[in-house]
Amino acid sequence: MVTMDITKLREKFKSLYGTEGVLYTSPGRVNIIGEHTDYNGGFVLPGAIDKAMYCEIKPNGTSKVRAFALDLDESCEFGLEEADKPQQQWACYIFGVCREMAKRGKPVQGFDIVISGDVPLGAGMSSSAALESCVGFALNDQFDLKFGRMELALIGQATEHNYCGVKCGIMDQFASCNGKEGYLMQLDCRSLDFKYVPFNPKGYKVVLLNTCVTHNLAGGEYNLRRASCERVVEAIAKRHPEVKLLRDADLAMLEEVKNEVDPVDYTRAEFVIEEIQRLLDACSAMEKDDYETVGKKMYGTHEGLSKKYEVSCPELDFLNDLAKASGVTGSRVMGGGFGGCTINLVKAELYDSFVKKAIEAYEKQFGFKPKVYDVVIKDGARKL
Ligand code: GLA
Repeated sequence: MVTMDITKLREKFKSLYGTEGVLYTSPGRVNIIGEHTDYNGGFVLPGAIDKAMYCEIKPNGTSKVRAFALDLDESCEFGLEEADKPQQQWACYIFGVCREMAKRGKPVQGFDIVISGDVPLGAGMSSSAALESCVGFALNDQFDLKFGRMELALIGQATEHNYCGVKCGIMDQFASCNGKEGYLMQLDCRSLDFKYVPFNPKGYKVVLLNTCVTHNLAGGEYNLRRASCERVVEAIAKRHPEVKLLRDADLAMLEEVKNEVDPVDYTRAEFVIEEIQRLLDACSAMEKDDYETVGKKMYGTHEGLSKKYEVSCPELDFLNDLAKASGVTGSRVMGGGFGGCTINLVKAELYDSFVKKAIEAYEKQFGFKPKVYDVVIKDGARKL
């Protein structure tokens, strides 16, 4: 099922290129718990959602890409060699995917493409990963490249690293490529093993509240967090050479290097080690349908992300405090942070009053309304 009206996308493709292409889609994601753990080799618990990026695509028999971003009303034409990197950021996502495929020995030829989507930008729902995954999946199919879904996710991640300046983990692209309706995915980001976990929190609803404060992970703060973690790993590895990622460390090992590392780095690493455990605890609770414990863990994540990892902002903290005061089961900032959404686990009977209260109180405080999205867990990348 497609939730977005793709008629405009189809019309645009036809009017620009005088022909019809093939349609593909790949979704954004939510993450129940496990934040900033992926690039530390820890676990995450994402699910693909009903908001997605879409593209219509057709090989054009040249060595050039003609691309159009419907929602921005912008076009871009570029070649497929390393020197041809386009100016516009949105086009870099497409270009990067092509380049990363070529680096893996499977170059694509020229094509025409129109992109559009309904994943809110900068809201922590992985619009860029959705675009990379959508383009990757489409090119893989059109040029019969035979990349698997996990390879497509890695291609998307490498695109972020090498063409967009964000040293992200694998969670977003993984979720966009592998999502399954009704299921979350518990992913071990060190081994890339994962399992589908049915998500059916009976008696609860999951709702996102978008602060409408947009983040730009390329702004550098995200990469700084990652660098902090890597410095701590380096310090710990001097004593414990088996430690390659924070996943391999524990709080006792961290304590040993307390006087050797920067205090800010120390606190960041402490959050990550605790968060990896918090996810495991939340997953065991979920297996027992114990959503009260899951909710407590979510609050723990928020507290850590806000005070220790410092990726929250006043608007997110406000919504989190409000959730707590309103008796919401669990609430926390979702995704990279610095803006975007809180994810809230709410008892069904509290849902209406909480959402109403959140909208009113938030508007009173900040002068504009938050946006509300009910979470619906859907399939990952696919042809339409
Ligand atoms: C962003 C990144 C992910 C992950 C989250 C935080 O969404 O793209 O890889 O690190 O932030 O959990």
